[in-house]
Amino acid sequence: MHTQVCIIGGGPSGLLLSQLLHREGIETVVLERRSRDHVLGRIRAGVLEWGTVDLLRAAGVGERMDAEGFVHDGTLLAAQNRTIRIDFRRLTGKSVMVYGQTEVTADLYAARDAAGGCVIHGAEDVALHDLDGDGAHVTYRRDGQEHRIACDFVAGCDGFHGVSRQAIPASVRREFERVYPFGWLGVLSRTAPVEDELIYANHERGFALCSMRNARLARYYVQVPLSDKVEDWSDDAFWTELKRRIPAEAADRLETGPTIEKSIAPLRSFVCEPMRWGRLFLAGDAAHIVPPTGAKGLNLAASDIFYLWHALRDHYRDGDAAGLEGYSARALARVWKSERFSWSMTNLLHRFPDQGDFGQRMQESELDYLESSEAAQTALAENYVGLPY
Ligand code: APR
Ligand code: PHB
Repeated sequence: MHTQVCIIGGGPSGLLLSQLLHREGIETVVLERRSRDHVLGRIRAGVLEWGTVDLLRAAGVGERMDAEGFVHDGTLLAAQNRTIRIDFRRLTGKSVMVYGQTEVTADLYAARDAAGGCVIHGAEDVALHDLDGDGAHVTYRRDGQEHRIACDFVAGCDGFHGVSRQAIPASVRREFERVYPFGWLGVLSRTAPVEDELIYANHERGFALCSMRNARLARYYVQVPLSDKVEDWSDDAFWTELKRRIPAEAADRLETGPTIEKSIAPLRSFVCEPMRWGRLFLAGDAAHIVPPTGAKGLNLAASDIFYLWHALRDHYRDGDAAGLEGYSARALARVWKSERFSWSMTNLLHRFPDQGDFGQRMQESELDYLESSEAAQTALAENYVGLPY
């Protein structure tokens, strides 16, 4: 079998690239290790930068997002019994769209199905070969059968635990990482979200976040020690802790109920340089991870895919290799800015075991500065709504 671009990973990155290249007449095959149900069963963040919204519309998958998503013109930062509203629309002229990543992924699968796209689930032992030669190909096993796909290029969209990043020789690859000393305990509940906009809360007991998926599906998080286990947290214990960390008026009106999903996720900052090796191009979580505090995970994947889409289109349509040659540097320039923002939001809003009284005052003074400075609020807002591609 031969294809123009072999895409490893059927998550948002891989599916979005496949859909955008299809609309350029560029042939792809997506190799996904897990079942579609498993992929669609993942609960992930739901804040889309406007650049991501535009890209999904360009891919022809914006209809349900536009119908069911929520446009948010701002967000709330709460701390020490005060709430600061960051007015994205007034400060930047932009908004964000709240629409679950699971829905984005489902919309992309539906689009690939409608276009007769080739997405192969259950692809095991995927291996990349001859990436720096002229015989690039991918092998995999499925239902006990070995398969081989010759290709012009490989897009490594297989996430943090995938195989693509490892195909870059260790002598070439440089990795940067910060693992945070806490996790996020997250729940979904079929209750009305406590607020129309998101609430990011800095509290002496730890961080909390109030988010949503729709008018009857709320998403909440509390910071927990890495030693905690989901079974340590009853629903009542979660609601009690959340109420202690969010503003009193929000706690008073919080609608609680049975949780329908409960999980603990670790927080990590990670970047792999370069994002290209020969005919392999990394995109999304395969190349970088951000702590969810800045809601950048899916949005960074989107900008990677935007750059790779244009680079491959220019190559096949115009014989112009500049985009491919410049892909890694261009993508990394935006990745590092989002890494910085996500790291800074995490440092501002979480309780670190070793932060001490001085660290506490640094957080309080930064929140004071945010509350009093339009320049500080604009800086946060332009990073949150998304820096230009
Ligand atoms: N072979 C084939 N598929 C693989 C392999 C492999 N060896 N390893 C991983 N995969 C698949 C995973 O099963 C997953 O479906 O690659 C896909 C990668 O998807 P994601 O991890 O969702 O990464 P990405 O598509 O880049 O999306 C980034 O997902 O994790 C969130 O916060 C992140 O929102 C961001 C988004
Ligand atoms: C979510 O809705 O899951 C969410 C929103 C914003 C974040 C992180 C997670 O920063």
